[in-house]
Amino acid sequence: MKVFISRKIPEAGLQILRNAGIDISEWTTKRDLTPQELTEFCREADALLSAGGNRLDRAFLESVRHLKVISLHSVGFDNVDVAAATSLKIPVGNTPGVLSDATADIAFLLMLATSRKAFHMHDTIQQGGWGFFEPTANLGIDLRGKTLGVFGLGKIGFALAKRAYSAFDMNIIYHNRGFHPAAEKQLQARWVSFQDLLENSDVLSVHTALTPETRGRFNKEVFHRMKRNAIFINAARGAIHNEEDLTEALKKGIIWGAGLDVTNPEPMRRDHPLLTMANVCILPHIGSATEETRAAMSTLAAKNVVAGLQGERLPFVVNPEVYD
Ligand code: 8YV
Repeated sequence: MKVFISRKIPEAGLQILRNAGIDISEWTTKRDLTPQELTEFCREADALLSAGGNRLDRAFLESVRHLKVISLHSVGFDNVDVAAATSLKIPVGNTPGVLSDATADIAFLLMLATSRKAFHMHDTIQQGGWGFFEPTANLGIDLRGKTLGVFGLGKIGFALAKRAYSAFDMNIIYHNRGFHPAAEKQLQARWVSFQDLLENSDVLSVHTALTPETRGRFNKEVFHRMKRNAIFINAARGAIHNEEDLTEALKKGIIWGAGLDVTNPEPMRRDHPLLTMANVCILPHIGSATEETRAAMSTLAAKNVVAGLQGERLPFVVNPEVYD
């Protein structure tokens, strides 16, 4: 049995695959595979371990319908046509849970860094701008006691809310399709309508999946309904916000600041206006990028491959209906 791995992953996962006697073919060149290349490599394999955002659409899936499993090295699966995979009877696996803390840390870091203009201050020193001290210059805003609004309170949103509640005494409100009893009990979180989330959040952090419903959800009209002192955080998917509208809202002071770990597109172009704004902090999609977390992700992804190739149910499956 052979697995094709679409880019270099941590050793922990490779070890599990080797121990299971699976042949490994890896793409290690530092550029994205073209769809044609990906198809060709998959034709010679029994499983695909996909790391990064390769688009696995219906046409691709139909051309590799022999695959016994597609294992994603991510929790997000917006790059996969899951319905098509299910109809072709291909189980798709992901890596939930293990990256919640690391990603929440990045959202928390962005929230704090943005509120104190930290990245801009660093740039200012580098450009020789640390000059005369003025008591009214370089002022940020306090987070303590403010309201954190979470759009999509799942595992990552909960981990962020826990940090904000415990360390900064922040009030937690959230908007979800369903309720989150643990957050309500442990963090005194309150479910609110989308309108109330916009009107009451001092920090609004996005932790939902990218779906047709959430794509472009944070647009001009939505930013206009937010508080003037609000900080917008997105560590989920760049396509959930409209980047032009966000830039405009920040330029015009419609909202106060933004911290992004995800942009649209990725990578962000180096001359993007958001990169020079004082109240904006941007990171290159590193939410899950710690040694421990990436090792844990590769472990889960490898376990999904092993199970799929052994004809067993994937331990972390995105489309359980494939087994119906
Ligand atoms: C990955 C992520 O870095 O898990 C996810 O959904 O966004 C990140 O952990 C990214 O998908 C690349 O594999």
